[in-house]
Amino acid sequence: MTRLHVISASVRPTSSARPVARWVAEQARAHGGFEVTPVDLGEIALPFLDEPEYASTGIYTHRHTRDWSALVDSAEAFLFVMPMYNGGFTAPFKNAIDHLFHEWQGKPVGLVSYSAGPTGGAPAAEMLRPVLTRVGMLPAQRTLALPGIHELLDGAGGFRAPEGAAGALAGVLDEVASSRRRPVAA
Ligand SMILES: Cc1cc2nc3c(=O)[nH]c(=O)nc-3n(C[C@H](O)[C@H](O)[C@H](O)COP(=O)(O)O)c2cc1C
Repeated sequence: MTRLHVISASVRPTSSARPVARWVAEQARAHGGFEVTPVDLGEIALPFLDEPEYASTGIYTHRHTRDWSALVDSAEAFLFVMPMYNGGFTAPFKNAIDHLFHEWQGKPVGLVSYSAGPTGGAPAAEMLRPVLTRVGMLPAQRTLALPGIHELLDGAGGFRAPEGAAGALAGVLDEVASSRRRPVAA
């Protein structure tokens, strides 16, 4: 079993990420081969990066950074469920990535994006790709983009997956499952 963390990568109290991430986690469990851990960035509530040392040193002075480090370190692979803000990825999500370095390295990641508009946040996912590569992650080529997100939510925490979404997510999960974790030189 691959330890997969499904990260709800938005921090607004009414974020659309949570219902989508719940559905994504269910799909990942049904896919098989994954031990799924849901992670909510809103609950993690990281401050803006306030460590005196670079994350690449692994020297963390704050409890919140050490906790975040341990959580990310315990994963072998990730699915990021992320919104698009003003054509790009969000500041809190980038901040959460920037807090760490070695913990991300060599690990496969699949991207599920969403937006109110017609792109489904695909531009934000593509903008994130070089960031993920920079921290040594292995982003899947296939992605799932969910346009018109507000029409897919029922306001009571439910998410209605559009036609084809489950199949597209299965493709992302297949890729994440088959991507070999790359050993990182010490
Ligand atoms: C700051 C901000 C910027 C946004 N920019 C876009 C945008 O560029 N394109 C789009 O289709 N939707 C945009 N939206 C709508 C979001 O995609 C939609 O509200 C989504 O639910 C936001 O994710 P969240 O609920 O996790 O915050 C924006 C929303 C916010 C809050």
